[in-house]
Amino acid sequence: MQARLVADQKIEDKNFTIILAIFTIIFAILIAATEPFLSAAWGAGKKPIQQGQNLKLVNNSPEETKKRSREMKQESTKYELPPLPYDYNELEPYYDQETLRLHHDKHHAAYVKELNLTEEKLAEARNTGDYALIRHLERTLAFNGSGHILHSIFWTNMAPNPEGRLRTPSGALADQITRDFGSFEAFKKQFSAAAISVEGSGWTILGWMPEFGKLLVLEVENHQNQTLWGIKPLLVVDVWEHAYYLRYQNRRAEWIENWWYLVNWDDVAKRFEQARR
Ligand SMILES: [Fe+2]
Repeated sequence: MQARLVADQKIEDKNFTIILAIFTIIFAILIAATEPFLSAAWGAGKKPIQQGQNLKLVNNSPEETKKRSREMKQESTKYELPPLPYDYNELEPYYDQETLRLHHDKHHAAYVKELNLTEEKLAEARNTGDYALIRHLERTLAFNGSGHILHSIFWTNMAPNPEGRLRTPSGALADQITRDFGSFEAFKKQFSAAAISVEGSGWTILGWMPEFGKLLVLEVENHQNQTLWGIKPLLVVDVWEHAYYLRYQNRRAEWIENWWYLVNWDDVAKRFEQARR
């Protein structure tokens, strides 16, 4: 009896093994047959490929991969010309539309273009190890980078003035101007005098100096000389000849006098608030 039970058990075990093997084979066949569908379904739920991702990287040579990586890096650091916050004719009669169009579309655009070119050449120098032009490139980086920053601030520092009334600051900015310059009129006189006296091409800047905890006026030559490290520009006026010569010729003082009518004190106050954070 005992022997028969053992024999039956062995038969059951054998049957079970055979059934298990059959199921395993069927399961494997099913998996193989449905794999493409499963992959597609799984892929559909994955995060979509980001713009700029290049699947060819997988099969590229190391040189091609490095080149593509450089290109992607450069794409991510492209500087762009910001649009004007008003139409070309909206700053009339203080700023003529012909000058404004040339100034923004040609001059500022050229600084942006040169800044991007400089970044590309610096990336190339890092990749090749050839720094023969490093002095020139660092100079063009400072020149065009500063030109891009200052022009970007300059456009938003101005706003149309159809009423033709001279506008003045208010609130915390007005209080700080009074504290640091004695009065708004004293500040305006210093700022105008500095703008008129810039030697050659340059800017005058009202900036917040966090380290000193006060407002300062700077007289900048070109875009990058005679600055103060760490200052936050709040209000800037362009006194390069390209900024005013078509309308004002050599009368820079007249350009400055009329430019005051365009100052957007709301923008200056907003920059002051951000700079003090
Ligand atoms: Fe300019």
